[in-house]
Amino acid sequence: MPTLNDLAASRTNLGEADVEWLHALVSDWQLLADLSFADLILWAPVRDDGGWLALAQMRPTTGPTSLQDDVVGTLAGPEDQRLLNVARDERRIWRESDPDWTTGVPVRAEAIPVTRAGRVIAVIERCTNLNSARTPSRLELTYVQGADDLARMVAEGTFPFAGEAAMLVRSPRVGDGLLRLGRSGRVTYASPNAQSAYRRLGLTADLIGAELSVITAGLSASDEPLDESLMVVAAGRAPRAAEVDGNGSVVQLRAIPLIVGGSRTGALILIRDVTELRRRERELMTKDATIREIHHRVKNNLQTVAALLRLQARRLRAPEARDALDEAVRRVGSIAVVHETLSHAPDEVVDFDDIADRVAMMAGEVSAPEVRVIPKITGSFGPLSAAVATPLAMVLTELLQNALQHGFPAPAPVKDPANRDWAVRDWDAKDAAANDGGLLEVIAVREAERLTVTVADNGVGLPEGFDLDSTTSLGLQIVRTLVVSELGGRLRIVPRPGGGTEAVVDLPVRNE
Ligand SMILES: Nc1ncnc2c1ncn2[C@@H]1O[C@H](COP(=O)(O)OP(=O)(O)OP(=O)(O)O)[C@@H](O)[C@H]1O
Ligand SMILES: [Mg+2]
Repeated sequence: MPTLNDLAASRTNLGEADVEWLHALVSDWQLLADLSFADLILWAPVRDDGGWLALAQMRPTTGPTSLQDDVVGTLAGPEDQRLLNVARDERRIWRESDPDWTTGVPVRAEAIPVTRAGRVIAVIERCTNLNSARTPSRLELTYVQGADDLARMVAEGTFPFAGEAAMLVRSPRVGDGLLRLGRSGRVTYASPNAQSAYRRLGLTADLIGAELSVITAGLSASDEPLDESLMVVAAGRAPRAAEVDGNGSVVQLRAIPLIVGGSRTGALILIRDVTELRRRERELMTKDATIREIHHRVKNNLQTVAALLRLQARRLRAPEARDALDEAVRRVGSIAVVHETLSHAPDEVVDFDDIADRVAMMAGEVSAPEVRVIPKITGSFGPLSAAVATPLAMVLTELLQNALQHGFPAPAPVKDPANRDWAVRDWDAKDAAANDGGLLEVIAVREAERLTVTVADNGVGLPEGFDLDSTTSLGLQIVRTLVVSELGGRLRIVPRPGGGTEAVVDLPVRNE
């Protein structure tokens, strides 16, 4: 299905500003279709006198359509061409006198020139299904009158409104509620839905005949001295939207000033009760805040646990036991980092590049001071869901730890901390060489649905007879469990070409 942009660029001579104008028009022409109870087709002249091309189409939500088929991208037939040519050449709204029966139902076609900066750049064809026409009610008369004003504004180049800020939520529709204001800003017609919305705001008096800006100001719960923009909108003086909050209800107003032939004929005010919508938004916001708060507390608790373990480690004599606790501190710490990040992120997706930086820093900090290797991260992990980020942070911690611990081993354990010099002098020459120009690199490659993380070091290399599948040590068991079972990925630990070790984690990831 080609877009308006595609069609305009490939088949017409419309310039950029013209296309912008047509975009603004079709983003708002539901209003015209609904008020007209009619289908609309936007036709633009094809390059080199090639006839007319349908750029866009809109069906009414207030009545039956007269166009069963989609016409966008098709060329106008000879009948339509004549009609469109007249509207363009005579620069006025043109109505075919006889209804068209080709589809089996009587359809009346009208052509409305779309004018921008004094030129007709396109023509709207308005097709009304005459079968559904009944004796018009007050509502229908008001709609059709509003539609005629709008159509004239399109032809005069005053609709769509230049520079009207795009609506953040969808614009209210005609069926949501409609008021018609007269020249003086008094209500001349109120649809039943519009009446109900004002009742919910607390109005007990009649809307008809009342000055809308005065009534609306009276109903607004806001204590601030009258909300300027609300007053302008309720008076129908500016093409803008505003919200009234009163009596526990929230109602959105959108004003469409009607200025025809240079004089104000009044305004249409579209009205929509958005109470439920706003309430749900507020609820979601509170939920979001709660989730963030929980992550924050989990992080705090984990840090407390880590602190307790660290205290306990200090009291231990046996170095092995002490190391084990230090290890646990680190593992808890890397989970805390993920929760910390989640406590800032608005949703359950985190930017893992941040986490990787911090995990690498933590790993560097706890490594032996003689080992001056700083992990370097290249590539990008990108955003990951919390379910992937937590295990991956632990995996990364373990792999970095191994590289620092086993790839670049520190000098033999110092029996007497006061006598460090002795220990350093005794340092194995091979280890010293390994530390010189030590390289520890984390390489992340994110593809559409895969993430590959390589932790490479140029250290002493894997021990003789190393077999990943039969290791019983805790670190790699954790890594294997997390990568394979939890994340559904693959793990390889192999000698690095050029010396050292390379651990490769390969995961399936969804695009967040
Ligand atoms: N980057 C590496 N360079 C050299 N040897 C390594 C490397 N990574 C792992 N190894 C070897 O694999 C073994 C198993 O590692 P693993 O992480 O499972 O246990 P660990 O580090 O000894 O103890 P911990 O359970 O505290 O992590 C290590 O003892 C080491 O011999
Ligand atoms: Mg380890």
